[in-house]
Amino acid sequence: MKKLFLATLLMGSVTLSAQTSTSKITIHADQGKNVINKEIYGQFAEHLGTCIYGGIWVGENSPIPNTKGYRNDVLNALKQLHIPVLRWPGGCFADEYHWMDGIGPKEKRAKIVNNNWGGVVEDNSFGTNEFFNLCELLETEPYLSGNVGSGSVEEMAKWVEYITSAGDSPMARLRRQNGREKPWKLKYLGVGNESWGCGGNMTPEYYSDLYRRYSTYCREYDGNKLFKIGSGASDYDYKWTETLMKNVGDRMQGVSLHYYTVKGWDGSKGSATKFNKDEYLWTMHKCLEIEDVVKKHIAIMDKYDPKNKVGLMVDEWGTWWDQEPGSTSALYQQNSMRDAFVAALSLNIFNKYTERVKMTNIAQVVNVLQAMILTDGPKMVLTPTYHVFEMYKGHMGATNLPIDIQCDSLVSNNKKFAAVSVSASKDAKGLIRVTLANVDPDKEQKIEIDLGNAKIAKVSGTILTAKTVDAYNTFENPNVVAPAVFKDAKVSKKGLSITVPAKAIVSLELL
Ligand code: AHR
Repeated sequence: MKKLFLATLLMGSVTLSAQTSTSKITIHADQGKNVINKEIYGQFAEHLGTCIYGGIWVGENSPIPNTKGYRNDVLNALKQLHIPVLRWPGGCFADEYHWMDGIGPKEKRAKIVNNNWGGVVEDNSFGTNEFFNLCELLETEPYLSGNVGSGSVEEMAKWVEYITSAGDSPMARLRRQNGREKPWKLKYLGVGNESWGCGGNMTPEYYSDLYRRYSTYCREYDGNKLFKIGSGASDYDYKWTETLMKNVGDRMQGVSLHYYTVKGWDGSKGSATKFNKDEYLWTMHKCLEIEDVVKKHIAIMDKYDPKNKVGLMVDEWGTWWDQEPGSTSALYQQNSMRDAFVAALSLNIFNKYTERVKMTNIAQVVNVLQAMILTDGPKMVLTPTYHVFEMYKGHMGATNLPIDIQCDSLVSNNKKFAAVSVSASKDAKGLIRVTLANVDPDKEQKIEIDLGNAKIAKVSGTILTAKTVDAYNTFENPNVVAPAVFKDAKVSKKGLSITVPAKAIVSLELL
């Protein structure tokens, strides 16, 4: 008896069987207005732990198979995701990064200390040329985070010149000396990162003035158009957004927002893989709270920018757990089915606010926080979060469809939240894509989807689930959480009838 009670407490040990709930979803397939910005599916790569070194970059002489220094396994996996935009070099690292340390012959590059992330030696072998060449290989838009905290206006201005100037300018000449004739294109430029914290501990008023100076001298060379992004708020800091919008709202094309699904900043953040049901439900609720946070920042932006010219860029989000025991790589954490839910719920929310949310960047792409990919020397494994991004990628550039939903609630700390999360879009070919998450760890959901007048002839789908919500992939067992064909969807008179198992994420394509 005691044994059984204990088993119900541990998420890993129980599979409560066949309890069923019913839900109803209405998709207004003829009322889509806003295109889902593809940049919502963006990624972030910082000089932190083994994200860059070891995770992406191994150098040309490495025994790990690589293309010009970028490891092939990671490159190929990332290509599958069609990453629309990649943020670099930080994060906190960005405000201590001096780009000139990372150009020219590798043996002459400065060796510095990465003060933000464990005091490790940074040899600068991955710098501007390596980043922009990576973006070309991945066919992704670069998003550069400039140094406002400890760098000069001149330094940032010259970086933009080095990257984008086609003419006979000093920095263009330097770029040519370093082997790159043609300029790259640079659209997204972050003017500082977390300037309220690791980026300089500034007040929003002081940062606004600095934003004016730094952004003034970032010039648009030879037809290159910059999209300048102000260093925005963390979580619930609405005053920061208000001050920036009031003072420099007419000078920014975007303002950022960081929101982590994290217990707090002091003490333990909890294990990535060992958690109980209460902790699981808490995570779902905390993740969903981002909707309210986004709405409140948008309300402030609407006040100062009623024409919706400035984008909200959620350029850091995701789960943050304790570093994996035994790992020496900073912020390296495992990634379970619980993390997959955080990705699925967040992306469903971002799709909904695409009118204002112009970009998001999950933190981070390899080996750091809620990563797509984990590596260890030559080994590589795809995480459950990777699979969510792959299942959702068809939303990019499609038109978001409005939705009504009636479903059960779950409860965490006396706060209710929906057991089912959903998003739908229609692409240029008329294909409707529906992404659904049944967060309930115990109950399957029988869902009727009403599609109004939209006629469906065929449905196909993919499901991501696992025996328990704390299941995860390892190098030895890489397919514990892996996508499979979803068969429980039937075309009905009004649309679709589907049965989604407990703790499952489903993506459907309707034609
Ligand atoms: O993503 C890890 C860190 O979190 C980033 O460097 C910083 O911007 C944020 O605090």
